[in-house]
Amino acid sequence: MVGIKVAPSILSADFGNLEQEIKKIEAAGADFIHVDVMDGHFVPNITMGPLVVKALKKITKLPLDVHLMIENPDKYIPQFAKAGADIITIHVETSKALKKDLALIREHGAKPGAVVNPATAIEKVFPVLDKVVMVLLMSVNPGFEGQKFMPEVLDKIKKLKVESSAQNVGIDIEVDGGINLETAPQVIAAGANVLVAGSAIFYAKDYASIIKQLKK
Ligand code: DX5
Ligand code: ZN
Repeated sequence: MVGIKVAPSILSADFGNLEQEIKKIEAAGADFIHVDVMDGHFVPNITMGPLVVKALKKITKLPLDVHLMIENPDKYIPQFAKAGADIITIHVETSKALKKDLALIREHGAKPGAVVNPATAIEKVFPVLDKVVMVLLMSVNPGFEGQKFMPEVLDKIKKLKVESSAQNVGIDIEVDGGINLETAPQVIAAGANVLVAGSAIFYAKDYASIIKQLKK
């Protein structure tokens, strides 16, 4: 569908060949690079930090969509922004002062976004819709790639779509977790316009064909 963007999550990429993987998804029509940052506290897994963001910045012109699944995001926002994050999204469950943290992201020159876990009410982001460029709705419990899509997210996307129209804010609605050729049409129909996909893209042979089909 026109206007649908795809953000491959490099969590599923081959890290021994990261540069080639990035070049491949660029050529395949990716719109963002989704970078999953996990701290082993807010989520059970540990992944990558600002160093990786800095390295990515040197090898791609695509916007870096940095998803912080970490405690005390305010402590690390400046480092990620400095490393070259274009968009920084923070979880409403872990930010102790959401408006302040979103403002901090802007102060450091990146675009702010808010994330909600599957168990968190979408209404939590309504007071900050004019402070973000993107809301990210998790359709799995964060921590790992390759999990099963939770259809409960569909109603939340619809609610957010209605509210963002009512508030007249032009935000991106991004969905993350279990997105594949079967679930993408469902989230798009509900109102999402940015699809994060890890395993569906990187475990496929032909990245371009998958990205094209996800956008339909
Ligand atoms: C989950 C991460 C996702 C994940 C997506 O905690 O935020 O971005 O890597 O992977 P798939 O598309 O395989 O569910
Ligand atoms: Zn993510």
